[in-house]
Amino acid sequence: MTSKRIVLAFGTRPEATKMAPVYRAVEQTCGLQPLILSTGQQRQMLDGALSVFDLTPDHDLNVMTDRQTLADLTARIVPQAGRTLREMGADMVLVHGDTSTSFCVALSAFYEGIPVGHVEAGLRSGNLREPFPEEANRRLTGVLSTLDFAPTGGSKANLLREGKSETGIFVTGQTAVDAVREVAGRVPLRPPWRQRLEAGQRLVTVTMHRRENQPMMREMAEALGRVARAHPELHFIYPVHLSPAVQEAVRPALGSLENFELIEPLDYSEMAPLMAASVLLATDSGGLQEEGAALGVPVAVLRNVTERPEGVEAGVLRLAGNDPQQLEATLLELLGDERQLEAMRSARNPYGDGKAAGRIAQAIAWHFGLTQRPDDWQ
Ligand code: UD1
Repeated sequence: MTSKRIVLAFGTRPEATKMAPVYRAVEQTCGLQPLILSTGQQRQMLDGALSVFDLTPDHDLNVMTDRQTLADLTARIVPQAGRTLREMGADMVLVHGDTSTSFCVALSAFYEGIPVGHVEAGLRSGNLREPFPEEANRRLTGVLSTLDFAPTGGSKANLLREGKSETGIFVTGQTAVDAVREVAGRVPLRPPWRQRLEAGQRLVTVTMHRRENQPMMREMAEALGRVARAHPELHFIYPVHLSPAVQEAVRPALGSLENFELIEPLDYSEMAPLMAASVLLATDSGGLQEEGAALGVPVAVLRNVTERPEGVEAGVLRLAGNDPQQLEATLLELLGDERQLEAMRSARNPYGDGKAAGRIAQAIAWHFGLTQRPDDWQ
């Protein structure tokens, strides 16, 4: 019997990081063969992530251009991805989360009649404009998918509310937990920061890149700068996204601060141990919310709404908003109150046990009739 060809399609750094454990799990499953289709949506950042996990794309569409618009990306990915999936003989396509790559590849696969498995399915902020365009991408992908791998019971409930059939939904946990634990456990913190930590200094990791935050990103960065000035004993580290819109907002606001280190985007092998060593993550990213929860590191979320409410309920995430005054006040409150930080650190991790990828591979094997339905964890 020939193996079923499972094409994992991704194009950005976070997708590669969270799909890497899935690739390995599919590879180890009898009757399944994993292949990688990269769209190359983020050339440098994606390549860095691939090398950390020792993954090589079987096909690369190489779509990235300078200052690409969402429409440009869509117009380039949809026709090329469909053609390539056909050439690759895909029996199923796995897409992840909510990027342009995810939605566009799912649409191409649908046009080609290839079933789509959606990893990190069912997250909803409830607001189409936050995050933009990700909330739309994830909802649209959910319309097209055959199998949905929901990280939590809450994300499964969102899908059921939208009318999806329970048969195709599997609650697996978050593959980010699998990835961050594996990498943070094997790679030590990089030397200049290790020395700071050994000298008793505390680190705060910052990331901010979301499109809907870009109009006020300069003011948000200035607010972060005021927090850093109020806490000269802390060392802030901000790997700045390569997007020119982000670079232009952040560098002038924070570039000259003594205790604010602005650096190039980090490989995941450096990011994971840095997050694990931090006293707080201040971020508008999605993945960092789960990674903080998995590592027991408090997260201040620089957004007004989150599609990851489980972490807020558990107490490890705090919504700080994107209003500069409000986020400044929230960060000052948290950093000035060790008891609050300790309570956040000891919160339960609601995003799974680090075995999500294996469950996804088993559910795919079931779909192709290779194994019994794995019903003990849904
Ligand atoms: C995209 C995702 C977002 C995800 C983020 C992670 C969509 C709609 N959004 O954000 O969900 O959180 O990626 O990074 O898919 N650039 C480079 N080199 C790189 C990466 C980016 O030069 O390695 C520049 C390019 O000029 C590009 C710009 O940054 O035009 C923005 O990249 P893009 O992938 O479009 O990022 P976002 O859409 O902001």
